[in-house]
This record gives sequence, structure tokens and C-alpha cells, in this order.
Amino acid sequence: MEMVNLTIDGIKTQVPKGTTVLAAARSLNINIPTLCFLKDINEVGACRMCVVEVKGARSLQASCVLPVAEGMEVKTNSKDVREARSVILKLILARHERECLTCSRNLNCELQKLCEEMGIDGLDFQGEKITYAVDTASPSVVRDQNKCILCGRCISVCRNVQGTGVINFARRGVKTTVTTSYDKGLSEVACINCGQCIKICPVGALREKDDRDRVWEALDNSDMYVVAQTAPAVRVA
Ligand code: FES
Repeated sequence: MEMVNLTIDGIKTQVPKGTTVLAAARSLNINIPTLCFLKDINEVGACRMCVVEVKGARSLQASCVLPVAEGMEVKTNSKDVREARSVILKLILARHERECLTCSRNLNCELQKLCEEMGIDGLDFQGEKITYAVDTASPSVVRDQNKCILCGRCISVCRNVQGTGVINFARRGVKTTVTTSYDKGLSEVACINCGQCIKICPVGALREKDDRDRVWEALDNSDMYVVAQTAPAVRVA
């Protein structure tokens, strides 16, 4: 097997050709934050949280998709790297619905965890933000695009692992979404309700339908109750 010599944060190492810088760093127990990366499933370099500084390169590089090269010198925690990751995280947060306390992924959210680790608790960027209707029509999956961070994990697992491929990216710029053909609800496409997308979603954009949703649905369909979005159900006298 052909081996490659490189230096990461001053530590000399040797890894097989074709290894990514992220994998090489992890083999040295060097932590590089990631969001979109999912080994063997979603290695697309979408979020840029894993950027590192490579000597001689003109810009920071996404380590999860960067193969090692002979003599490479990498810094994973320089001032430029930390600043870039902080800006990237704030930009992701700027379009993310931040109702953490009522989110099913509260305290189990990869985005929330990264913000805590990097000391980010406010919003530096405000821009155009689109509010999407939450897709609750599926019998098992609730899809909330307001929380989607466009990592692409659900697309990869649906297409490449499950072989279903009912979701994909659509549109561009601030209007980019993960959606189905013709923006139909999941109940109207060939979703098989396997739940793989829920399992790998790093945030609360996809979650399992639970009893709470079913109670609300039952109430919505009942003429005995008046249901308000934000208030408890009220029995009609
Ligand atoms: Fe590398 Fe998202 S983790 S680009």
C-alpha cells in the first residue's frame, strides 16, 4: 500500500494514499468539527465546518473531502481556521429556526452542540429568511425545512443507502431547499417511511411522528374542539 507523509498541527504522520485530511487528523486524535460529513454516506463537503489551513494553498480547505498529499503541512486550529468556522456557523444559524427549547432534538442536536463548543450564542447575521410549512402528512416522518441546514445527509441516505431517492436539493441561494418532486409532501411521493433520514439528520429538520402530532391531528379532524396553533385545545360549550 502506498503511504503518504504529512504533518498535522506539527505532528508528523504517515497514512495510506487516498486518506482524507479529516481521517488522518482523527487517527492522531485531533478533533476537527464536522456537520455534513457522514462516513461512507455523505462525503460531499457541503457545510465547510471542517476547514483547515494547508501550507501553500490560497484558501482554507474542507478536510473531509481533501485527500492527503506527500509533504502536506496542515493546521487545524489556527486563528484563521477558528474565525472561518465561527462565521460559517453563524451563517448557518442565520437561516435556522432557533426554537431549541421546544425542538425534539434539544440537547441532542449537532448544531446546538457545536455552538456551545464554539461559544456562539447570538446572531451576527440577519438576512432574507423564508418560512416553510411543516410537512406533517406522512404517517411517520415530520419534515420541517425551517430547521434544515442543507447538509445533504438525508438526500444521500435516501438515494444511496435506501435506494429510494425521493428527496433532493432544489433552487439556489437563499431559496435552496431539500424537497420532493414538485414540492409534494412526503405522503405523496414514494417515501417508504424507513426513518433513515431521521436517524442521520444532525438537527430537528426530520423527526419521527409521535403521539403529540397524532393528538393534534385528531383534534384538527374533530368538530368537538377548536384548536389554536399555540394554545391548548378548547372544548366548545
Ligand atoms: Fe466537511 Fe461539512 S464536514 S464540509
